Amino acid sequence: MKIDIISVVPDLLQSPFAHSIMKRARDKGLLEVNVINLRDHTTYARAQVDDYQFGGGAGMVMMIEPLVNAIESLQKNTQYDEVIFLTPDGENFNQKMANHFSLKDKLLLICGHYKGIDQRVRDHFITKEISIGDYVLSGGELAAAVLVDAIGRLIPGVLNDETSALTDSFQDNLLAPPVYTRPETFRGWKVPEILMSGNHAKIAQWRMDQSLQRTQERRPDLLDDDQ
Ligand code: ADE
Repeated sequence: MKIDIISVVPDLLQSPFAHSIMKRARDKGLLEVNVINLRDHTTYARAQVDDYQFGGGAGMVMMIEPLVNAIESLQKNTQYDEVIFLTPDGENFNQKMANHFSLKDKLLLICGHYKGIDQRVRDHFITKEISIGDYVLSGGELAAAVLVDAIGRLIPGVLNDETSALTDSFQDNLLAPPVYTRPETFRGWKVPEILMSGNHAKIAQWRMDQSLQRTQERRPDLLDDDQ
């Protein structure tokens, strides 16, 4: 999968994909991430990419021309499955969306800044608008990093058995059960006996019960979410 990201702060996107599972995905050739500096696509003096908003009001708006120049120059070489704008007024990102995007081939992510981007870009170029939660970040970069991480680890072949996504929280609309490792007893706090029993059927049942209980307690909304 190829993911291109347009940003005015490309440095913010260097580290998130350089470690751990994202690094492995890139090293294996399963994920390619390219960060494009929007300022390389402006024709305005001093690499300007934003301006005052028409109608007045505080906050700058990202101008249409640099964004369209960047998008169209990328589209010359790549046909994207989706052009995604990260924005707090977008659709809330969730595991179902991550699963869906992980099966795509080419994505273009656009990070907003300031008050946002000129609405005409949204009207004519963006195919999906996504928020990572009900709070406002300084820009879309951290949101883009969240998307790439959540999607990238689901690309077939990225995770091995030990890191399998099948038992993650939110797969099957359930939170994950508690997990334990050595030592078996610490300060008198014992690991649940069932996990030491070697009875795999019983362990699976216990984990399912714990998952259900956790979900009921913490996120009952997930249990009646039938989408
Ligand atoms: N940009 C600023 N805040 C955001 C959010 N919550 N989600 C996605 N992009 C954003």
